[in-house]
Amino acid sequence: MTHTLGTPPIRTIGRMTTFLFLVIALAVVVLAAAQSQQPSGSAQPSVPLIRSLEGPDLYRAYCASCHGKDATGHGPVAPSLKATVPDLTRIAANNGGKFPVERVRRIIQGEGVIASHGSREMPIWGPVFHQVESDVDRGYVRLDNLIKYLESLQAPSRKT
Ligand code: HEC
Repeated sequence: MTHTLGTPPIRTIGRMTTFLFLVIALAVVVLAAAQSQQPSGSAQPSVPLIRSLEGPDLYRAYCASCHGKDATGHGPVAPSLKATVPDLTRIAANNGGKFPVERVRRIIQGEGVIASHGSREMPIWGPVFHQVESDVDRGYVRLDNLIKYLESLQAPSRKT
């Protein structure tokens, strides 16, 4: 009889250990996620998503502050940055006349390393464009439209 009375506490300890284990595992997962969300050196903009999917609208909302309305790099925020804000109408010209779609995509998404002066001042836009609206993620549509818009702004290459 004393034997059967002894078992419940042991089972409770077992459950507590499982519970504790789960709590620790959860904490580890949360910490790891938090760390992977913070790419070193660049700001994660906490900007709301605009409804439009159009390239020019996205550009005005997210990029013009630094790169300027005409994309030549003279936005109102540009003077306060350490880095020189590049002229986005010359991306193709600087690349032998060809607009490097994939590189631009990576830079905007924050996957590409910008090989300038070490630390990146341009914010990472991937997560902003991929905020899920209702049940659809239109992040790729936004990104594609924005890139097409940038491509349409390219100054004619002097080389031809
Ligand atoms: C806070 C200011 C800021 C904003 C906002 C910003 N950029 Fe930039 N961008 C920069 C800076 C500064 C660089 C130069 C690299 C660096 O130091 O980060 C750059 C570089 C780039 C480049 C690389 C150009 C090249 O010739 O290599 C592209 C493309 C670009 N930005 C596109 C965009 C787009 C598209 C948006 C809007 C979604 C945007 N940027 C918003 C500051 C900004």
